[in-house]
Amino acid sequence: MLLLPLLLAFLPQTLAWGALGHRTVAYLASLSFTPHTTRLTNFLLHGQDISEAALFPDKIRYIPSFAYTRAWHYIDAADSPPHQCGINITRDCAVETGCVVSAIANHTERVGNDSLPLWQRGQSLRFVLHFFGDVHQPLHTEAEDRGGNEYAVVFDGRATNLHSVWDTLIANKHAGLGHDDEELAAWNWALWLHALNQADQPPERVCMRDPAKCALGWAGEANAYVCSYVLAHDVHGRDLGGEYYEGAVPIIEDMVRKAGRRLGAWVNAIFEDISLANLEAMKVLETPSPEMFVQEL
Ligand SMILES: *[C@@H]1O[C@H](CO)[C@@H](O)[C@H](O)[C@H]1NC(C)=O
Ligand SMILES: *[C@@H]1O[C@H](CO)[C@@H](O)[C@H](O)[C@H]1NC(C)=O
Ligand SMILES: *[C@@H]1O[C@H](CO)[C@@H](O)[C@H](O)[C@H]1NC(C)=O
Repeated sequence: MLLLPLLLAFLPQTLAWGALGHRTVAYLASLSFTPHTTRLTNFLLHGQDISEAALFPDKIRYIPSFAYTRAWHYIDAADSPPHQCGINITRDCAVETGCVVSAIANHTERVGNDSLPLWQRGQSLRFVLHFFGDVHQPLHTEAEDRGGNEYAVVFDGRATNLHSVWDTLIANKHAGLGHDDEELAAWNWALWLHALNQADQPPERVCMRDPAKCALGWAGEANAYVCSYVLAHDVHGRDLGGEYYEGAVPIIEDMVRKAGRRLGAWVNAIFEDISLANLEAMKVLETPSPEMFVQEL
């Protein structure tokens, strides 16, 4: 039973795509947590760094027993960029597999659901932290070339694909400090974006009554960028490290800022009516299960 977490710890690091963006969204959100939210988050995550917790869904997605989570990272709009963009939830989110919109709704409900064991609520919190990043990434809302995964481009002289450019390479070039200290890079970027948010944005309003509707609206904003910029021109085989990169940075900053601000308000709302004393009382009654350890990845 105890071998499972050990085995998982040795999975290749390449599973974690787009780690800088996800870490930044989580840190940025945490900068607008209330003290109460911070306490409950620490409790459910067992004190794990919130930016690390946000990477959990990418670390487990290729493990066979978690195959059912794979479709939750995106909503593949079958639209026709660059001429016509748009999401149709019936067409683009299969009920059998789910998608990022339904997953945000599902896991939002589960974090606050007192009938679930605490480890499952902690796991659902990790999914929420992660999917707020995904739903704001334009190519996680697009079916064309499997979200750009099959669209060959070059970035600063290296052959890659358009999806990786948007998940990872633009953010790393803009805000990464190389790979040695990704957490520090994310924290610095989050502080910068938080200052921008405070200077020019009103506090985020949350629409907890219909989480799927909010998430669908955000997916629509990200998807609109597919037509207006991401696939606006044919960039097959081109090096995107120059002019294309310069034009993409403001879009990524806009999306990361929104994701972090919205996530902060969202988690505050989830925890508003939940008391730490209740959670602590549940913990005493909980029977340990091997699955509990997987979430500590
Ligand atoms: C959305 O997709 C469904 C299923 O393909 C289709 O029946 C419906 O007409 C579409 N709605 C809009 C507004 O295009
Ligand atoms: C909600 O999440 C749970 C836990 O991961 C999963 O078992 C269930 O299938 C999900 N439900 C939907 C409708 O996605
Ligand atoms: C909470 O979880 C239980 C057990 O999975 C489920 O039966 C119930 O419908 C959930 N509550 C809400 C409000 O969705």
